[in-house]
Amino acid sequence: MCGIVGYIGNNDCKEILLKGLEKLEYRGYDSAGIAVVNNYDVEIFKEQGRIRDLRNIVDWNLATTTGIGHTRWATHGKPSKRNSHPHQSATGRFTIVHNGVIENYEQLKKQYLAHVHFVSDTDTEVIVQLVEHFVNEGNDTFKAFQETLKLLHGSYAIALIDNENQDTIFVAKNKSPLLIGLGDNFNGVASDAMAMLHVTKRYLELKDQEMVIVTKSQVQIFTLNGEKIIRKPFIAELDVSDMEKGTYSHYMLKEIEEQPYVVRKIIQKYQNDTGTIHIDPSIIGELMNSDRIYIVACGTSYHAGIVGKYLMEKVAGIPVEVHLASEFAYNRPLLSKKPMFIFISQSGETADSRTVLVQMKELGYPALTITNVPGSTLSREADYTLLLHAGPEIAVASTKAYTAQIAVLAIIAEAVALGLGRELNIRMIHELAIVANAMEEISNRKIEFEQVAIDYLSSDRSSFFIGRGLDYAVCLEAALKLKEISYIHSEGFAGGELKHGSIALIEEGTPVFALATQENVNLSIRGNVKEVAARGAKPCIISMESLAMEEDEIVLPQVHKLLTPLISVIPMQYIAYYAALHRGCDVDKPRNLAKSVTVE
Ligand code: M6R
Repeated sequence: MCGIVGYIGNNDCKEILLKGLEKLEYRGYDSAGIAVVNNYDVEIFKEQGRIRDLRNIVDWNLATTTGIGHTRWATHGKPSKRNSHPHQSATGRFTIVHNGVIENYEQLKKQYLAHVHFVSDTDTEVIVQLVEHFVNEGNDTFKAFQETLKLLHGSYAIALIDNENQDTIFVAKNKSPLLIGLGDNFNGVASDAMAMLHVTKRYLELKDQEMVIVTKSQVQIFTLNGEKIIRKPFIAELDVSDMEKGTYSHYMLKEIEEQPYVVRKIIQKYQNDTGTIHIDPSIIGELMNSDRIYIVACGTSYHAGIVGKYLMEKVAGIPVEVHLASEFAYNRPLLSKKPMFIFISQSGETADSRTVLVQMKELGYPALTITNVPGSTLSREADYTLLLHAGPEIAVASTKAYTAQIAVLAIIAEAVALGLGRELNIRMIHELAIVANAMEEISNRKIEFEQVAIDYLSSDRSSFFIGRGLDYAVCLEAALKLKEISYIHSEGFAGGELKHGSIALIEEGTPVFALATQENVNLSIRGNVKEVAARGAKPCIISMESLAMEEDEIVLPQVHKLLTPLISVIPMQYIAYYAALHRGCDVDKPRNLAKSVTVE
């Protein structure tokens, strides 16, 4: 979703800002812009489309050492140059970039700004016009900014420039992520550390309802009531090279192929010297003491949560409910007496999940966040965090984070089971090592999966993924992967459910991918395949070595039956990738999507 970058220092900032925006491209956006200070003036360059389009319109001869930049993912108002940020106040004195949603912007417009001519359809413009309104009433910029922030309902990360006070960037945050980047003789603003890694690794975290004065030599944080806050900086443990594509044509392909290494890294991080699992005992204690675990997540992370339920219930014997965060937030189910919450989020910034976390913390329930991003909002605000150690995931379509989430959930399940003294016939560290090898073997067969994509998905037909039990969970993820990057309509179904309605969609040649990795439902899912084939479908069966039959298209290497999702998803990721590639889609940045969904 929207991204912010800002710089104030001694060096020319145009390239710093544009490079920062390029690092934020992965979040998804439809337009971009920068505002730079130049001799008592502020110059704005903005464009609908990609950063490369923006680069073409920037005046490279302009000398400037202060500026703010933005990538916009449209919420209020269509994607257009007019609606893209930065926005200015009526006189042009104030210039703003903003992430988030101001829920009461229409009311504020009516109440305070009825006489002001607005040039965009955005909620953001209200903020900058309000600052000018309060300055016109005789306040200095700090006070006017403060008064404005107090009126806003909703989420915001803001960077504001005052043309009459050019040595300062005014910053504020509520619910939307924002960091201050610290340097020698410069400081910066970024909605994600990645956007400033090329200039600094040192950051200051901002909390909700804080405002900040950033100059090139000083950073001062305040509450909205003006109380000063002292906070220590942290070092972002990110490597710039982790964010490069290297020789890969797409981040998605790179990330699919990183999965064996990620699983090995997880083994290494969650194992102690004696080769047994090591997780903070207080996390395991909380889980053991709970009478029910609630997993809350969105999208791919939700799908990983469904696999996590199987693992936790089968291995640790604790009942688990998996909920979509956006539903849970407004339709809370009846909770057990001693619930424990697990939030799964690659980015750690997903607004829907965060809403639930805030609600559950208010109720005093313990919460664990499983995330890929240390220091992210969901990590900071939960009681406990377990990291995925997957390295930055840049492609919008989540791949390695999904398998990392399942691997970490598997390790937690064993640790809880051991804590509860349960007899175990699975040792996750050992089984995950087998999985990592199997993943590598599967990656070596990608040409096979490309051919499947060509054979089954070259037309515009809807496609279906069917499976039972754990395979059904993977089918949901496989269908999401295919639809989000190739725009082919696809759905995941429980094999047994098809004949209760959805089988009506099957016609001559409809591609149906069937997963058959579970012995207890092997014959039933194959029966479901026969049912759709009899109605003209073109089935593609993906099975496990021990269950393979002659008609199977893809046979996967054997892994433990509880860990099959970790490998059965990989051909599905490749098939989605190649289907999108052959259709000429923008694989890493699919239309309408954002990597980090920071609005509800
Ligand atoms: O960062 P999160 O894991 O919280 O994100 C949740 C979803 O937005 C995300 O998994 C989304 O579904 C993926 N981009 C799908 O590939």
